[in-house]
Amino acid sequence: MEILHVSAECYPAAKVGGLADVVGALPKYQFQEGAIAKVVIPAYRNAFRESGKYQFELVHQGGLWLGHDWYHFNIWKENANALGFDFYQVDIPGLLDTPNVYGYANDTERFLAFQVAVLDWLSEWQHQPDVVHCHDHHTGLIPFLLKYGRKYSGLKDIPTVLTIHNAQYQGQFGWDKLYLIPSFDLWKSGLLDWNGAINPLASAIKCAWRINTVSPSYMEELYHAANGLEGLLNAERSKARGILNGIDDDVWNPSTDPMLPANYGIKDVTKGKKANKESICEEYGFKKELPLFVFIGRLVGDKGADLIPDAVGRALYDHAGAFNCLILGSGDAHIEWRMQQARHVNGEHFGVYIGYNEALSHRLYAGADFLLMPSRVEPCGLNQMYAMRYGSIPIVRSTGGLRDTVTDFGDEGGTGVRFFQPTGSDLHHAIGRALELYSTKTTFNKIRKAGMQQDHSWNKAARQYMDLYTSLT
Ligand code: ADP
Ligand code: GLC
Repeated sequence: MEILHVSAECYPAAKVGGLADVVGALPKYQFQEGAIAKVVIPAYRNAFRESGKYQFELVHQGGLWLGHDWYHFNIWKENANALGFDFYQVDIPGLLDTPNVYGYANDTERFLAFQVAVLDWLSEWQHQPDVVHCHDHHTGLIPFLLKYGRKYSGLKDIPTVLTIHNAQYQGQFGWDKLYLIPSFDLWKSGLLDWNGAINPLASAIKCAWRINTVSPSYMEELYHAANGLEGLLNAERSKARGILNGIDDDVWNPSTDPMLPANYGIKDVTKGKKANKESICEEYGFKKELPLFVFIGRLVGDKGADLIPDAVGRALYDHAGAFNCLILGSGDAHIEWRMQQARHVNGEHFGVYIGYNEALSHRLYAGADFLLMPSRVEPCGLNQMYAMRYGSIPIVRSTGGLRDTVTDFGDEGGTGVRFFQPTGSDLHHAIGRALELYSTKTTFNKIRKAGMQQDHSWNKAARQYMDLYTSLT
């Protein structure tokens, strides 16, 4: 079976968040399940392309109309299997060759052109994939266009799967941009529409042969609250399911991770984590003997990042500066500013790194004692799984994938600290419980090791995706 994943991100070529990690790992595990999985993403002008480390071969050239504008495009294939699967990039000069993945005024046009280029290429490809697997709204028009696009009638029987990594983002745009979409039978327009706008995520939910979210709990939550799409999801229930993400054991392995100052496994976890923690503490001027809490992620309301400054500040006050906290992330300007402010107020106990730093993130998973994840919305969340693998105990709000992967240390076999309301008070209380846990060394070590022993590998999910595809072909 051959699967083509179409996505905006794929690690290590382009990463903003967990979508990249998933698309960069799942194909390798699908290969182990006997499938051939290929990935296509846009060719951004970023460090990956410009490093010169990868060998690309031009495999297709074409041209596409985007409304009144014509764009030339190239499709490049990475030729040395450096990512562990066949990897393609769509290069559209003047549209996709941007340094960042998202955040441009013409994102609608950019990702629409990407999807059209992929479809044009597919219609000329010698062999066709057995399944086209789309990820999030950036690829959400593909299921519709494959079925109803006039140019693509030869492809209309290819089954499509949509994975919803985050239903908060839907990619809506006005009907005034309809002229950008390749022609189709206009009486099918309703399949593009949601609440009076063209909504790529809604369209994919309607048109894909199967849909899934990245955890079972998130699927259940979406039936009640999906940023306006709950009614639609309920209507499409029969083709929906929740498949919990895994983590890439090769990339996220503390005993081999080249980004760590000291490697370790479960047997020498105490020594190994101490060395990693010391290196962080030296860099940030923290006292090494205090527990270290970290947050790694987008500084946005959905991640509950705004709850951290007050909750941590109050806990530092209540516990007389008994711990340190380091924040790695970027996002909303206001939350970034509040983090900086917390650093001024809490002096040597609070550190902030505003920005994206892959190597530092690995060092923090290894050096931390606790990882904060007070998410309001968390479709799956990978950080908590990385943290557990690296022996850091996750403190999570019980929602979505966090609920499916972390159990409370108060329960049998628990691996983390769970709280229920996305409020500063609940987070503050959870930090207090974590400090209590830290002070009971035997229990702390037991929980830490229980987390390290969890099997969050991709094998199970890869099999579930295979079952999903097989039900379609
Ligand atoms: P999301 O995709 O919603 O942001 P996930 O938990 O699925 O959340 O994945 C986040 C991924 O991005 C993880 O690999 C995490 O380590 C990484 N990450 C997030 N912010 C940063 C940052 N500022 N620097 C480095 N890595 C980051
Ligand atoms: C999204 C979600 C996150 C999930 C990731 C990978 O970014 O916000 O929870 O882990 O996709 O599926």
